Amino acid sequence: MKSVKIIGTGSYAPSKIVTNSDLSKIVDTNDEWISSRTGIRERRITTGEDTSVLSTKAALEAIKNANIDPLDIDLIVVGTASPDKFIPSTACLVQAEIGAENATCFDISAACTGFIYALNIGTQFIKTGQCKTALVIGAEVLSKIVDWSDRSTCVLFGDGAGAAILQSSHDENGILSIYTGSDGRNAAEFLGCSAVPVRNPFIKSAEKQESLVTMNGKDIFRFGTKIIPKCIEEVFKEQDCTIEDIKYIVPHQANMRIIDSAAKRLEIDSDKFYMNLDRYGNTSAASIPLALNEMARNGLLHRGDKIILVGFGGGLTFGAALIEWMID
Ligand code: COA
Repeated sequence: MKSVKIIGTGSYAPSKIVTNSDLSKIVDTNDEWISSRTGIRERRITTGEDTSVLSTKAALEAIKNANIDPLDIDLIVVGTASPDKFIPSTACLVQAEIGAENATCFDISAACTGFIYALNIGTQFIKTGQCKTALVIGAEVLSKIVDWSDRSTCVLFGDGAGAAILQSSHDENGILSIYTGSDGRNAAEFLGCSAVPVRNPFIKSAEKQESLVTMNGKDIFRFGTKIIPKCIEEVFKEQDCTIEDIKYIVPHQANMRIIDSAAKRLEIDSDKFYMNLDRYGNTSAASIPLALNEMARNGLLHRGDKIILVGFGGGLTFGAALIEWMID
């Protein structure tokens, strides 16, 4: 089996900032409620750029930072719950924009765990020798599927994208372990968004159905507080390190209170979790790579640092990756 390491990251968020008080002009809410219940103060919302555009901008930064030619990329995986289209995939749209002609491209649907799943797929393709260089992306334009009349959900989400380049390595193993899981029981009741209903000339037309996010906030909250510690415990199995050796945990940015509760269960300080939720809200599959690239940009990560990425979300899906940072 080959070793795999991250050689570059990138991210992009639309320039339009929507504050909590901006939202109070759309629904009956206020800054105090949103920031005290979630930790979110503002989010980025697209004024036209769709998921493939955000993905492409994140990918181009990752390619530049990794110092590779797009033609070196032989796999592109995009984790997204809000693609531009059913067909073609977001990954194919990105491929065309960045000129990665040698890549196999596809999207995966794992909601907020999309980046962890994409990272796992890229890692496994490289480990087994199917490819050498993979571009993995988490990207969302959730603003197009959010119900802007529902104050309990529309205040939570934001748009953005993050990317990482993975490469096969002879001597350095950067991806130490990955754990993923799913639980499809009653999942749509927790967090859902319908696609198109069944309709064809041979049946009575179904009722018109809108594709909007619905959520049971309390159930998802409880799930998050339990699954984060479980995923973190799982990545340490068969590893000779413990949570004490971890410099940062980069969690899915859903709610500060979920992180505080998970930190308590893990008996660690919340400060070990890197958060940028206050500025971006919950960007679903984009949230982990957006945070990771922000940390890299700000010089918080050094060669040899051990970090954990951990996510959970609709599906239900969940997962974590234990990573040794290999970039100088
Ligand atoms: N502004 C003001 N009031 C709001 C509001 C808003 N944006 N949204 C809901 N409320 C009201 C409710 O209507 C309710 O009013 P009522 O008591 O008069 O009925 C009250 O606030 C309490 O609502 P509740 O749903 O009990 O709040 P909560 O403390 O559970 O917080 C969430 C709600 C959504 C913030 C919280 O459940 C949460 O963060 N869940 C996880 C969501 C998540 O992370 N989803 C994505 C996972 S990937």
